[in-house]
Amino acid sequence: MVDLTLRRAGPDEYELLGRMNRELIEDEHHRNPMNAAELAERARRLIEKGWSIELIVRGREIVGFATYRREPAGPLATQFHLRHFFVARQWRRRGIGREALRPLLARCKRGECVVIDVLEANPEGRAFWSSMGFEPYALRMERPVYVADLKFLRSPPAARRGTSNPKATLAINELLVSP
Ligand SMILES: CC(C)(COP(=O)(O)OP(=O)(O)OC[C@H]1O[C@@H](n2cnc3c(N)ncnc32)[C@H](O)[C@@H]1OP(=O)(O)O)[C@@H](O)C(=O)NCCC(=O)NCCS
Repeated sequence: MVDLTLRRAGPDEYELLGRMNRELIEDEHHRNPMNAAELAERARRLIEKGWSIELIVRGREIVGFATYRREPAGPLATQFHLRHFFVARQWRRRGIGREALRPLLARCKRGECVVIDVLEANPEGRAFWSSMGFEPYALRMERPVYVADLKFLRSPPAARRGTSNPKATLAINELLVSP
C-alpha cells in the first residue's frame, strides 16, 4: 500500500496545478487549448466557484491532484462530481490513483454517486475507472454543425430557394471561425 495524503492546494501552488492540468489535458486527449498559465488562473476561479482542489502528496512530493465538488442530482439527491483526477506520468501504475481515491470516496455521503467524465480518446482512464468499480452511465454524442445547418435556419426563405444573401453568408462564416 502507498502512503499518501491529500491536502488543499494553496495560492502559491496554482502554477504547479496549471502545469499538471496541462499534462492531464494532453494525456486524456482533451480539446481544451488553454496553456499552463491560463489553467493556473482557472484553478483560482474554480476554487472561488466552490470546487475543491486537493494535491496528492507522497512523502514530501506532490504526485497529482483531484478537483471535485458536491452537486445537485435531481430534486432530492446530490452527486460527488470528480472533475479532475491526475497522477504525474512518472508515478503511474504504482497504485497511487487507487490509494488517492480512497480518501475522496470517504468524503461522499451515503447513497451518493461519484461521477467523472471519461473521454472516448482516453482508454487508459477508462481502464482505471473500470478497475475501481465505475460503470458507464451515459454516452455523450456530438456532431459538428455544418454550413448547411446554419444556412437553413438563419437565411430568409428567398435564400433557401437559391437567392444568395451576403449578410447571412458573412454571419455564417464568422460563426465557423470562432473558437
Ligand atoms: C488514470 C490515472 C489517474 C491512473 O493513475 P495510476 O496511479 O497510474 O493508477 P493505479 O496505479 O492506481 O492503477 C490502478 C489500476 O487501474 C488500472 N489501470 C491504471 N492505469 C491503467 C492503464 N494505463 N491501462 C490499463 N489499466 C490501467 C489497472 O487495473 C491498475 O491496477 P494494476 O496496476 O494492479 O493492474 C493516471 O494514469 C492518469 O493520471 N492519467 C492521465 C489523466 C487521466 O486520464 N485522468 C483520468 C481522467 S478520466
